[in-house]
Amino acid sequence: MTIHAIRTFGDPVLRMPTKAIEDIDATVHNLARDMIETMYDAPGVGLAANQIGIGRRIAVFDAQDDLGPRVMINPVIVETSGEFEYDEGCLSVPGYYWEIVRPGFARVQALDLDGNEVEYAGDGLLGRVLQHEVGHLNGELLIDHLPKRVRKKALKEIREDKLGIN
Ligand code: NI
Repeated sequence: MTIHAIRTFGDPVLRMPTKAIEDIDATVHNLARDMIETMYDAPGVGLAANQIGIGRRIAVFDAQDDLGPRVMINPVIVETSGEFEYDEGCLSVPGYYWEIVRPGFARVQALDLDGNEVEYAGDGLLGRVLQHEVGHLNGELLIDHLPKRVRKKALKEIREDKLGIN
């Protein structure tokens, strides 16, 4: 098993939509294992493949609900509802948290490592992590969900941090 370096804000791979996985072979199983290990090492509650530079549609998460780590392959959000403000962070934008408003409830359909159709649904942390990780696989980042003016300020802060101005 390998712990991978996590790509951070500014790396173009984070903005590229990932490609669907057609064969859930040994490579995909190994990738999932490495992603789970990398997520826990970070530590974080979710990780998408493009965050370690792999442009495939697979993410892992642990919603801290005693069910342990779970894998979603080719996930699609099929339902959301409500509204929920949550102090959201991202391993690819380390050190930053923003109060981000998104739907509270989310339902995702995906495949597991055996190729079975699975559904993950819930609110709270689970609802948020599902939306956050599927967002990554679509080339989104959490700052995309900030109101325009807040986003502008956030981008300026991140850039200045990266340049070591602060
Ligand atoms: Ni993230």
